[in-house]
Amino acid sequence: MHIQVWQGDITSLEVDVIVNAANESLLGGGGVDGAIHRAAGPELLEYCRRLGGCPTGEARLTPGFNLLARFIVHTVGPVWQGGQHDEARLLAKCYRNALALAESVDAHSIAFPAISCGVYGYPAEHAAALAVKVLSEPRPTGSAVQSVLLVAYSEAMHQILEQAIATGG
Ligand code: APR
Repeated sequence: MHIQVWQGDITSLEVDVIVNAANESLLGGGGVDGAIHRAAGPELLEYCRRLGGCPTGEARLTPGFNLLARFIVHTVGPVWQGGQHDEARLLAKCYRNALALAESVDAHSIAFPAISCGVYGYPAEHAAALAVKVLSEPRPTGSAVQSVLLVAYSEAMHQILEQAIATGG
């Protein structure tokens, strides 16, 4: 699996799966969640209403609707509370569960935003290192996913993600 950084708006990517940093309601919000719902269109919200929410660390699959991406994996990252509240384990779960759902639809390419690094306040350096470490773990044989994009929405995040990849997480 090839992991690389890409800087820009995740909703513009033509990949099999884009990952949404959602909240437990799955009913939309600000940040990347708001951008994805705006770009996917109102059918996404209708679809999400029927999912009944998603616990932190878990992930749910939806169609991409008006997005170029075929699917969206909605995952709920932990809110940073200082680091002693299981945040790292829950963030790692987000990446693993999202990847597993992408594999379940034979996705070859997946793009992740910096889950929890915005409103949820997770320190970007820690989150970036964790993401690279988890995404570098061996995958089941036959896993279709070949390309992983870590999407930076700022130059600062771009540098942080490049650094995490350079050091292997
Ligand atoms: N494309 C790529 N990345 C983006 C985009 C975008 N269009 N918009 C924002 N980001 C980046 C942010 O800069 C940040 O680095 O996504 C990262 C995650 O930030 P948030 O979107 O705030 O997500 P998170 O910190 O996980 O908080 C989730 O915020 O939007 C609400 O409904 C969401 O309640 C949930 C909470």
